[in-house]
Amino acid sequence: MLDRFKRKVDYLRISVTDRCNLRCQYCMPATGMDWIDRDEILTYEEIERFVREVAVPLGIRKLRLTGGEPMVRKDLAGLIARLAVIPGIDDLALTTNGLFLEQQAQALKLAGLQRINVSMDSLRAERFKEITRGGDLERVWRGVDAAMAVGLTPLKLNVVVMAGFNEDELSDFVGLTLNRPYHVRFIEFMPVGEYELFKQVGYVSSQRMRELITYDLEPTEMTGNGPARYWQVPGALGTVGFISQMSHDFCSSCNRIRLTADGKVRHCLLSDHEIDVRGWLRGGTAPAEIQAALEADIQLKAENHEGALRLSGQSRTMSQIGG
Ligand code: 5AD
Ligand code: SF4
Repeated sequence: MLDRFKRKVDYLRISVTDRCNLRCQYCMPATGMDWIDRDEILTYEEIERFVREVAVPLGIRKLRLTGGEPMVRKDLAGLIARLAVIPGIDDLALTTNGLFLEQQAQALKLAGLQRINVSMDSLRAERFKEITRGGDLERVWRGVDAAMAVGLTPLKLNVVVMAGFNEDELSDFVGLTLNRPYHVRFIEFMPVGEYELFKQVGYVSSQRMRELITYDLEPTEMTGNGPARYWQVPGALGTVGFISQMSHDFCSSCNRIRLTADGKVRHCLLSDHEIDVRGWLRGGTAPAEIQAALEADIQLKAENHEGALRLSGQSRTMSQIGG
């Protein structure tokens, strides 16, 4: 599927729940959110049907499951098993906070999951607990080890970099890649979610991150499905990437759409424009009709978001949209 700027859209991010067992300071308030009602959440059967009958025929080839925290939803492996066997899907990945990974890594792998991204915003246990409001870093590491052991690789570690929180740890994260094949990705803080916090601390640009890193980095050949550019300490086993959506506009290579947990398709993270496919899936609308509506909707995908700052304080948060 091509949009009107000839961008190929072949990547679908699926949020399976807006709920989470953490309350990261940049993502949601300590008290949590107004959770979406259960009967508004797409069932696994509906998600499978959407992927098989609507998304794949339109050219979607890569899937990522996100949340909220996807593993808080019951039997995530059951959904993965349904999706992994759909002809045409050649990449199936998951973004997680890692808390349930130790228990579930093997089942997810057996179900057909290929790889994972784990959020890890600090390497210091106390600080990690503070940023995530209660997360146990040791437990996340046990999850990462379990994932490596069963081959959920290449494994990426997502680090949202925030002034006054973790910008003094960037070299420590890079140091991790020397002897372990992790792909660390430094993400600029976006004004999605906790906007008040964003107004206080702003974002650390990738350029500034580079200055804070004491290692020499050289470019690598590696590219992912997304906008990160990857670098490497010479001889290191892992890589270092920067996701610079605030300081740079990479809309020209945008390849994705999103399915929210409550069955809305969003063609841009930073636009509140959504179309409701849940009603159609539940009402028995023919797949061809849903495909046509989606194809028309993709044509509305903007050429660029004209600087993510402009969009500060939009109505839905990362955990609701599927980050
Ligand atoms: N800015 C940047 N990244 C964010 N994430 C969640 N909220 C924000 C934000 N406001 C990240 C999570 C996770 C990924 C899906 O998105 O840390 O790694
Ligand atoms: Fe949960 Fe991820 Fe939001 Fe943290 S960033 S509260 S782990 S959804």
